[in-house]
Amino acid sequence: MLIILNIFATNLIPIKNMCGIVGYTGFQDAYEVIINGLRRLEYRGYDSAGIVLDKEHSSFQFAKTKGKVDDLAAISENFKGKFNIGMGHTRWATHGVPSNTNAHPHLSNNKKIALIHNGIIENYDTIKTMLAEKGYTFQSETDTEVLVNLIEYFMNKNPEIDFPTAVRYALNEVHGAYAITVMHDDFPGILVVGRLGSPLAIGLGENEYFIASDASPFVEFTKEAVYLEEGHMATISLEKGVDIRTITENEKIIPEIQELKLSLEQIEKGGYEHFMLKEIFEQPKSIQDTLRGRLLVNEGIIKMAGIWDNLEKINQAKRIIIIACGTSWHAGLIGEYLIEEFARIPVEVEYASEFRYRNPIITDKDIVIAISQSGETADTMAALKLAKEKGAFIYGICNVVDSSIARITDAGSYTHAGPEIGVASTKAFTAQLAILSLIALKLGKHNGNLSNQEFMKLITELDHLLQKVEQVLQSTHEIVKEMAKDFVDVQNFLYLGRGYNFPTALEGALKLKEISYIHAEGYPAAEMKHGPIALIDENMPIVIIAPKQGHYDKIVSNVQEIKARKGKIIALVNKGDVQVSSMADYVIEFPETSECFSPILASVPLQLLAYYVAVYRGANVDQPRNLAKSVTVE
Ligand code: F6R
Repeated sequence: MLIILNIFATNLIPIKNMCGIVGYTGFQDAYEVIINGLRRLEYRGYDSAGIVLDKEHSSFQFAKTKGKVDDLAAISENFKGKFNIGMGHTRWATHGVPSNTNAHPHLSNNKKIALIHNGIIENYDTIKTMLAEKGYTFQSETDTEVLVNLIEYFMNKNPEIDFPTAVRYALNEVHGAYAITVMHDDFPGILVVGRLGSPLAIGLGENEYFIASDASPFVEFTKEAVYLEEGHMATISLEKGVDIRTITENEKIIPEIQELKLSLEQIEKGGYEHFMLKEIFEQPKSIQDTLRGRLLVNEGIIKMAGIWDNLEKINQAKRIIIIACGTSWHAGLIGEYLIEEFARIPVEVEYASEFRYRNPIITDKDIVIAISQSGETADTMAALKLAKEKGAFIYGICNVVDSSIARITDAGSYTHAGPEIGVASTKAFTAQLAILSLIALKLGKHNGNLSNQEFMKLITELDHLLQKVEQVLQSTHEIVKEMAKDFVDVQNFLYLGRGYNFPTALEGALKLKEISYIHAEGYPAAEMKHGPIALIDENMPIVIIAPKQGHYDKIVSNVQEIKARKGKIIALVNKGDVQVSSMADYVIEFPETSECFSPILASVPLQLLAYYVAVYRGANVDQPRNLAKSVTVE
């Protein structure tokens, strides 16, 4: 079990803006404030949690554990009602697997400094080597433990400096992205915070201060907050208030106090009306997080330990079987196109629920790729157990760290899309496509089916995709929002695409039906004439995905057939398109990219279309009827 976890762990790459931080000093029970605050930040990460509390004439009291905030609460209840200052953390693993040891807070070697951290210290390895040479030892695999010891190092080296100055010295040495909170046992009334790249808010109450990754942990206690700016740090104490300085120059900053206008619920959704919309808009970042550390364009390589360690096995496989359900199954279909095109390995894509009950032929020469956002889907899990029993090698693509599916696989890659709360999968889907693209290109390059030139062209294009996703969001959001009003009362929808965008059509249709409850079907465009064409009349909206690359000419003929039957055409085309656009009733443009990556771009406006139609119909977008985020029943 551990080995399996470790294989996954090698693919864990740092992600920004995950993990939740809460700190408190004041007259309330710090334990309650922190634990309740962490519960609100659990959307940011929930693989382990920890708390540290302090008071005069007593050493740190702390507890940390792998698991959720509830698990932490269960082991730390005895801290209740005893402390007025402390800090807590809920983690989404970056450096090192989720474990009790890797959980925050981390203590310095002398046990006097405690630190919680959200983000990455990019040069932690160099600093760790330097500290190790000076005799420092490390318990965890985290970059955080390096930073806390660096603070101790500066305090030891310069006995004349105070604790906040030592933190400042240390922060001047680190590169990366971070939000940190630090406590020193010899300075029990002080919290020191710093920020670069990851968010941190300071809540200003009466005789109390709060610290949190977003304002949700303290919104019921105060409406006044200071959002720490990039490159700033603050020393917070009841005695001296909030002292903000620049990290580099130690220049004093006058804080800009903001009034919190948002409700608790809105804050949790980051100001978006629904988690689904927030998650749609998070896609440039979630794709970036998925590619980071793996797609190294300047070096001309794709780094994926799970694939690399098993390359021979995968390349010698007779076939790859992709197993998944729902949206993840759609990603699997696109994976089939990608792997067959670039790696030339035969791929079959199976619904997990069908696979397990049809006595499938599986051998130890097969590679099974399981795709699951939640990592808990019962059908997928059962299909994998069956494949494993028959000796297949199992590779997992999961979003939730340390989930059941991640654990039973032999190797795998996490998608790093971040917690997906809206029931309809959006950012997890595009992250799955990003991982499948990496796998296909890596295999293709290694087994010689892709020339170096083609490989470089494709990875460069993949690298540019984030900006294009951002462009699609910006350029299509208002258009789609407006056009969705016209479809509030329709009964049916058809989605058509060819090649790589046939699965995109399936996914577009699934998104619409699950949240708006409008019946929708996805079809390969050419299949239309074999049946669905009978449905087309002036009341039938038909979404056509028709990027330039691929089978554009063929799609033009399909559109003509629809036009002749008066269907309402919603065309997803590349910028500047003329032929399909001239026949369409609605046009949504997206930038050109290689055909194999076009599903990532085309999916975004389809998600928005489903979202707005559902919103206008008054549906509960985030929690559609009859659905759940993890389908843990058969
Ligand atoms: C649709 C959706 C579902 C899931 C399916 C598999 O938006 O979310 O179709 O894709 O239940 O779930 P995972 O990927 O968690 O195995």
